[in-house]
Amino acid sequence: MFEEALSYDDVLLLPGYSDILPKDCEVKTLLCADITLNAPILSAAMDTVTEEKLAIAIALEGGAGVIHRNLSPEDQAQQVAKVKRYLNWVIDSPVSVEEDASVRDVKALMNKFRVSGLPVLGSDNRLVGIITGRDLRFCRNDSLSVTDVMTKDPIVEQGEPTVSSAREKFDRHRIEKLPVVDTEGRLTGLITVKDMEKHDKFPMAAMDKGGRLIVGAAVSPQDYQVRMPLLKNVKVDFVVLDTAHGDTKNVMEAVAGIKKQFDVPVIGGNVASKEGTRRLIEAGADAVKVGIGPGSICTTRVVAGVGVPQFTAVWNCAEEASKSNIPIIADGGIKFSGDITKAIGAGANMVMIGNLFAGLKEAPGNEIIFDGRIYKEYRGMGSLGALNEGARDRYQIGKDETPVPEGIEGRVPYKGELRSYLHQLVSGLRKGMGYCGCKTIAELKQYRNFVRITAAGLRESHAHDVTITQEAPNYSRV
Ligand code: XMP
Repeated sequence: MFEEALSYDDVLLLPGYSDILPKDCEVKTLLCADITLNAPILSAAMDTVTEEKLAIAIALEGGAGVIHRNLSPEDQAQQVAKVKRYLNWVIDSPVSVEEDASVRDVKALMNKFRVSGLPVLGSDNRLVGIITGRDLRFCRNDSLSVTDVMTKDPIVEQGEPTVSSAREKFDRHRIEKLPVVDTEGRLTGLITVKDMEKHDKFPMAAMDKGGRLIVGAAVSPQDYQVRMPLLKNVKVDFVVLDTAHGDTKNVMEAVAGIKKQFDVPVIGGNVASKEGTRRLIEAGADAVKVGIGPGSICTTRVVAGVGVPQFTAVWNCAEEASKSNIPIIADGGIKFSGDITKAIGAGANMVMIGNLFAGLKEAPGNEIIFDGRIYKEYRGMGSLGALNEGARDRYQIGKDETPVPEGIEGRVPYKGELRSYLHQLVSGLRKGMGYCGCKTIAELKQYRNFVRITAAGLRESHAHDVTITQEAPNYSRV
C-alpha cells in the first residue's frame, strides 16, 4: 500500500493554551551551521525573484536571499559582494594621515575626502592617534604638527569587532570614530557613528559576525568548481545546491566536495523523502531543502508524475533531520502567511518563497500592465524561458537536447516594497504562534499538532459568501 500525503490546504494547526501575545513571540531561527536569521524566510534562487536588491531588502528585515545562478559566475559573485558591502560598517581602507603632517595637511585631506576625522599613523601603519573636527575647533595655527593637536591613545577596537562591542564603546565614550587595529596596533579599519546609525535603522537585520548582511548563492554539481572560489572570495555566507532532484549521486558528491574543498555551509536539495534527507545529511549537508513540485510555477508533478504534497514532505523530512539536529527548509507552495506557520509547525526551521516575492518592487522581473493593473513577471526556473537562459542543468537537460519544461512563465500582482509585505508575513506567523502558545520557533517546530480538514473546511477557512470590496495586504486570490 502507499502512504496518503497532504498539502498545507489539507490541515490546520490546532489552537492551544497560550499565555503569550503575538508581539512577544521570537521568530529568529537557525538557518544552517552557525547562521541565525531573525525572520524564518529565504527568498528563492530564481531569476524573477532574487538578485542583489531583493537580497539586501530581505536581509535588512531579518531573512536572507539566495542569488540565482542564471547569471555568469562573475556577475553572481559581484551581486553577493554588493549585498555584503551594503552596510559597510567597518571601512577597510580609511583615509588617514602620517604623524609628520601639519594641521594644514589634515584640513586639506578632510576637505578633499569630505570626512570629519582621520586616524594618525606612525611607522609601519601603527595608530598613534586620531584627529577630528572637535580637536581642530580651537586650533588657530595651521603650521602646528598633527601630533600636537590630535587625541592620543584613542579608544579602539581590536581584531574582528562586533556590532555590540562597537556600539558599547560609542555610547560609553561619546566618540564619533572608532579605529580598528590588529594585535600589533596597526590600523585595519574604521567605524563611524554614521554607519552605526544605519545599523540602528534596521534592528532586525540578519548580519554575519562582522556586521555585514547575510546572503547565499545557488550553485550546481556542474558549476560549483567555478563558482565557489569567486563566491568564497566575496564572503558568501552559505550556498544552496540548487537542483530539482537532490537525491542523486552527483548532488551527494557535490555536497561533500564543497564541504571539503571550500568550507562554506551548504544547503542540499531538493528532496521529499526521509531517505533522501538522510543521504544528504550523511553527505555533509548543513541544512536540507524540501520540495518536489509544490511551487506555484512548477509542473514537475504533472509532467513527470512525481512529487510529494508539501505538508507531508516537510513532516517526514523534518522527522528524519531532527535525529541529527539538521535544519529543514520548506521550499515552495507558500500561498499565505498561515502556510509558513504550518510548515514550521510540521518541523521546518524556515521556508523559501518565490511567488509571494516576485511581485515586489525589489524583485528583478519586468513590470507588466494588464487590464489596468500592474503585474510583474514570474517564471519557473524549469520554464522554457529560464531553461533557454541557462537553467538546464537544474533539470538534468543537456545543452543540445530539446528542452522539456517543468515550469511555466506567468505574472503576479505588483505588491510594492518588501519591508511592509514581509511585516505582514512575519506578523501572520506570530499570530499563529500566539494561537498555539509557542513563544519561539523551536517550540513551534515541536508543536506538530494539526487537524485534517475537508474541502468544506477549506472553503470555510477562506473568505466566503461575500464579495471582497477592499483588498487586504495579506489576502488575495489572484
Ligand atoms: P513558490 O510556490 O514560492 O515556489 O512559487 C518556489 C520554488 O519552486 C521551485 N521551482 C520550480 N519547481 N519547476 C519546478 O518543478 C520550476 O520551473 C521551478 N522553478 C522554481 C523552487 O524550489 C523555488 O524555490
